[in-house]
Amino acid sequence: MKSLISLFLLSFVLHVSGSEEWCYQTKGSCKGPENWKTIDKICGGDRQSPINIVTKATQLDKRLTQFNLTGYKTVFDSTVKKNSHTIEVTINTTATVSGGNLEDTYKPLQFHLHWGTNGVRGSEHTIDGEQYPMEESNSDNKNFENLINVLRSIQNKSDEVPIKNISASQFLLPEENMTSYYRYNGSLTVPNCSESVIWTVFEKPIPLSKKQLEFFSSLKLSDGTPMVGTFRPIQLRFGRTVYRSSGPAVLASVVLLFVSIITTCSLSHLC
Ligand SMILES: *[C@@H]1O[C@H](CO)[C@@H](O)[C@H](O)[C@H]1NC(C)=O
Ligand SMILES: *[C@@H]1O[C@H](CO)[C@@H](O)[C@H](O)[C@H]1NC(C)=O
Ligand SMILES: *[C@@H]1O[C@H](CO)[C@@H](O)[C@H](O)[C@H]1NC(C)=O
Ligand SMILES: *[C@@H]1O[C@H](CO)[C@@H](O)[C@H](O)[C@H]1NC(C)=O
Ligand SMILES: *[C@@H]1O[C@H](CO)[C@@H](O)[C@H](O)[C@H]1NC(C)=O
Ligand SMILES: *[C@@H]1O[C@H](CO)[C@@H](O)[C@H](O)[C@H]1NC(C)=O
Ligand SMILES: *[C@@H]1O[C@H](CO)[C@@H](O)[C@H](O)[C@H]1NC(C)=O
Repeated sequence: MKSLISLFLLSFVLHVSGSEEWCYQTKGSCKGPENWKTIDKICGGDRQSPINIVTKATQLDKRLTQFNLTGYKTVFDSTVKKNSHTIEVTINTTATVSGGNLEDTYKPLQFHLHWGTNGVRGSEHTIDGEQYPMEESNSDNKNFENLINVLRSIQNKSDEVPIKNISASQFLLPEENMTSYYRYNGSLTVPNCSESVIWTVFEKPIPLSKKQLEFFSSLKLSDGTPMVGTFRPIQLRFGRTVYRSSGPAVLASVVLLFVSIITTCSLSHLC
């Protein structure tokens, strides 16, 4: 199978459901992250994600150039899916990403979000040991309002609901801000934990207001349990090298929020 690539800012992952039930906090019959390796032994492998990125130990790679994105501003209608693990938005249009030393052109299929509790601890990857929530700002991020409104209408339910008139770019950083990033070989952060993901962790945060952050932390599952802490704990690096792009100030700030887009050859690779 062709490599998966993963990019970005909120946390975009192709959702993989194993045959056995997994969850973020062990409860009843579901298995928490410490037991995912009993669902798939790869989850106990040595190329797992997320990791803590130690900026001082990163290596500059001049081939990590700017990305070439197409179709990200196209407005489309789609669906938002809420399940017990995540919120997922399907990208119902053809967008592509190339450049940035990716070997091929990839087509993102969906993105999803990870967040913490009460607006803290949300990102899966950490930088120099710091884990940030989706970044807090003073004003609401208008680009997230339609998503929030749709989620509000689902309340506690696991459901799939339509969302109209959105574009991929509204959930991402401006293209010119996508030049500072880290790159390493890792895995899906949910079972089956397949170790075929080339991670791109962007550095710049996407700002959301406190109210918006609290909204995500207030989401509930159908049994009324809060949907919080939807991230996998950091994994050991096992000697892997993390590379950094030569974009401005890559060492000066931290990732507050990232999105990863994962595509596979069979599903979407533009072969
Ligand atoms: C793991 O999941 C990915 C994504 O669904 C799939 O492409 C891959 O074949 C799976 N790997 C294994 C070893 O089952
Ligand atoms: C960006 O990608 C598109 C589609 O793959 C391609 O047509 C275009 O030439 C690329 N632009 C640059 C600057 O590489
Ligand atoms: C995706 O877009 C097509 C064409 O615009 C539309 O007919 C279809 O209903 C959309 N799919 C979803 C899931 O909204
Ligand atoms: C769709 O969103 C754009 C801004 O993203 C807005 O200008 C336009 O009026 C919206 N169209 C509809 C039909 O809501
Ligand atoms: C994007 O980059 C510009 C110029 O470097 C900067 O002024 C702006 O604040 C950045 N935006 C974000 C969201 O980081
Ligand atoms: C990922 O692994 C492949 C094959 O082992 C290697 O060629 C490549 O340089 C690695 N990439 C990174 C970013 O470490
Ligand atoms: C959502 O869950 C809360 C408990 O956390 C419950 O009080 C409320 O009635 C539920 N709402 C719906 C629409 O099920």
